[in-house]
Amino acid sequence: MKFFIDTANLIEIKEAQSLGILDGVTTNPSLMAKEGISGKKNIFNHYKSICDIVDGDVSAEVISTNFNGMIEEAEQLCKIDDKIVIKIPMILEGIKAIKYLTKKKIKTNCTLIFSCGQALLAAKAGATYVSPFIGRLDDVSTSGLKLIEEIREVFNNYSFQTQILAASVRHTMHIIECAKMGAEVMTAPLSAIKNLANHPLTDLGLAKFLDDHKKSNK
Ligand code: E4P
Repeated sequence: MKFFIDTANLIEIKEAQSLGILDGVTTNPSLMAKEGISGKKNIFNHYKSICDIVDGDVSAEVISTNFNGMIEEAEQLCKIDDKIVIKIPMILEGIKAIKYLTKKKIKTNCTLIFSCGQALLAAKAGATYVSPFIGRLDDVSTSGLKLIEEIREVFNNYSFQTQILAASVRHTMHIIECAKMGAEVMTAPLSAIKNLANHPLTDLGLAKFLDDHKKSNK
């Protein structure tokens, strides 16, 4: 399973990268705004800074909602770095853009996926990744994990190459359940990634080992 970090915060990206388990980054316009990054030049420079930190794919989202605008943005974003993956919203104009960019061998991440039908359409268009937002589905009392399971089944039935990128991940159980279902990628905040390491028995066990060592090495 590939681990992406879902942030535009350079400090957090550096920390995740330093753990040696980071495979990529996902951003979106809200995450860029949260970091106070605005204006095309600053946004592009920020993407470049992210690409300079990580080894893997970096999703950069278009803000146009029509085919021509999306393609124009995608072509500019691609020039920033080879690691850039074009994040396209799940709308019909987006599907056309994904098909076009796939033919040009440009990687895409179809975002804002909330149904299996949407994932199927994006896979048909050749998306590199589909991003089902599991936390936001849970927020409206619909199982996000069930959606991952459904998409996995459909993609397996037809051997689609499109990778399931579980997004809107909120906690460690989301990560573990997605791993069990075979989502190729998950993107999560740094806190959820770090929480995977936590277990009280590990803490207790380590404290005992260190204490015993101290006592016998006085
Ligand atoms: C996906 O790529 C999105 O950036 C993200 O996972 C959205 O998550 P949220 O629901 O926590 O905003």
